[in-house]
Amino acid sequence: MSSSVTVAAPAKINLQLGVGAARADGFHTLATVYQAIGLYDEVTVTPAESTTLTVVGEGVDVSDVPTDSTNLALRAAALLASRAGVDDAGVSMTIHKRIPVAGGLAGGSTDAAAALVACDALWGTRTSQQDLLSLAAELGSDVPFCLVGHTAGGSGRGELVHAVEDAGSYWWVVALSDRGLSTPAVYAEFDRRHAGTQVAEPEVSADLLAALATGDTVRLGAALTNDLEAPALTLRPALADLLELGGRPPSLGALLSGSGPTCLFLAADEGDARKIRDVLRAAGTAALVAPGPVPGAHVVSSL
Ligand code: C5P
Repeated sequence: MSSSVTVAAPAKINLQLGVGAARADGFHTLATVYQAIGLYDEVTVTPAESTTLTVVGEGVDVSDVPTDSTNLALRAAALLASRAGVDDAGVSMTIHKRIPVAGGLAGGSTDAAAALVACDALWGTRTSQQDLLSLAAELGSDVPFCLVGHTAGGSGRGELVHAVEDAGSYWWVVALSDRGLSTPAVYAEFDRRHAGTQVAEPEVSADLLAALATGDTVRLGAALTNDLEAPALTLRPALADLLELGGRPPSLGALLSGSGPTCLFLAADEGDARKIRDVLRAAGTAALVAPGPVPGAHVVSSL
């Protein structure tokens, strides 16, 4: 048994987020393409008498992150312990957060994926990837992808992850907001906009898949779409100006990340990404540069 395991938990973005009608369970059918990017939280677990969680913000406000048993990462640890029959399942968990909270980057989901990987290593439970994926799906729609990482397709409510060919490597500019947006509120606004209409079954665009298969950054930039962008802009109109500013040349494409409010800009290379980031910073917006794709939640240290 290890005495301490640390797992890197990457942020996720959606290169396309196609949203269909609300299902009977309230979740929406999705056709999405995910990518994990090089912006990480870190989750560390050590054995302890009773379970505790400490969340340390590194440049992000963590005041809204629960540290009790409702925290998704602690729920992930408890779920694995109960399914794997771990008796001494107490852990002292520390999350170093660099991914903005409620930002549309799946920060909570990736911490939960990382907690599964970390506790599996700590307890030596040797859970198969298939079993980890099914535990992840119970925890949240984005959690399975956060285990898998790289670039992948998502269907169902997002939890069914499948392989997508991606020959490229990309540079993203990530523009942050001071205040988060509630994912359920953005989906509720999507429902309001479509009330009384038949919502088409979402489909991943052939153009986006072709751009990824050939690693064609210009083509990818033109194919980026997010069906939650219009509802999020209704709730946060100032995001339109941010998308316009960051989307100017040399940006190859601009879109909202997930349910927002984080905005993303695709650059041809790292130098262009820095230029776009600096334009945003000069306008008073916090922004950073991140490469993608990167692997999903993975052990970085095991003592
Ligand atoms: O699955 P997860 O817990 O991350 O979802 C958070 C919320 O986002 C859900 O409670 C729901 O309001 C909304 N959601 C949705 N359809 C999806 C995924 C999420 O309506 N496919």
